Amino acid sequence: MRLFLAINFPETVKDRLFSAACALREMAGSGSITRRENFHLTLVFLGEIPPDRVPAIQSAMHSASGFSLTAASIGRFRRPQGDLYWAGVMPNPELQKLRAMLCKALRASGFPIESRAFRPHLTLGRGMRLTDAAFSACADLLPPMEIPVSSYSLMCSERRNGIPTYTELHRQLL
Ligand code: 2AM
Repeated sequence: MRLFLAINFPETVKDRLFSAACALREMAGSGSITRRENFHLTLVFLGEIPPDRVPAIQSAMHSASGFSLTAASIGRFRRPQGDLYWAGVMPNPELQKLRAMLCKALRASGFPIESRAFRPHLTLGRGMRLTDAAFSACADLLPPMEIPVSSYSLMCSERRNGIPTYTELHRQLL
């Protein structure tokens, strides 16, 4: 099973992210945008995990304090096959603390979690190409938006009929 831990968003937040993604796609003229129901923030990517390890992941999903995120700005990761565009997240100590707690608990249970820097982002679309001028003009597509975070989830990612589908396996309240 391809698994990851993520913060899922209220419907109003998904609506605004989807509008920004649609506008980006229109500007780019190519590429694919995240399906409205799939918007999330990955906390920890676990990758392929045998199903019998799911209880160990659930045990590592401790509670913490609830907090708010601010999504702001649009960025991109350059990729040869077309760039990945994302909404950024303002620096947030509570988010970093939650991620650090999860990495520590998961490593203690034997999960090999990557140690490279955590770059929190909300993927809007992939395989898109925008000129630098068009990219600069994107900044206004997503005014800063506060996102309340009161839980996080263990998610399973799979393709169903070619469509990326995320299913929540377990939710931990904050
Ligand atoms: P992305 O949107 O930047 O591709 C489900 O695929 C989630 O896991 C997505 O948020 C995806 O991030 C993330 N993901 C996929 N592969 C990953 C990897 N190798 N390292 C970190 N996150 C990954």
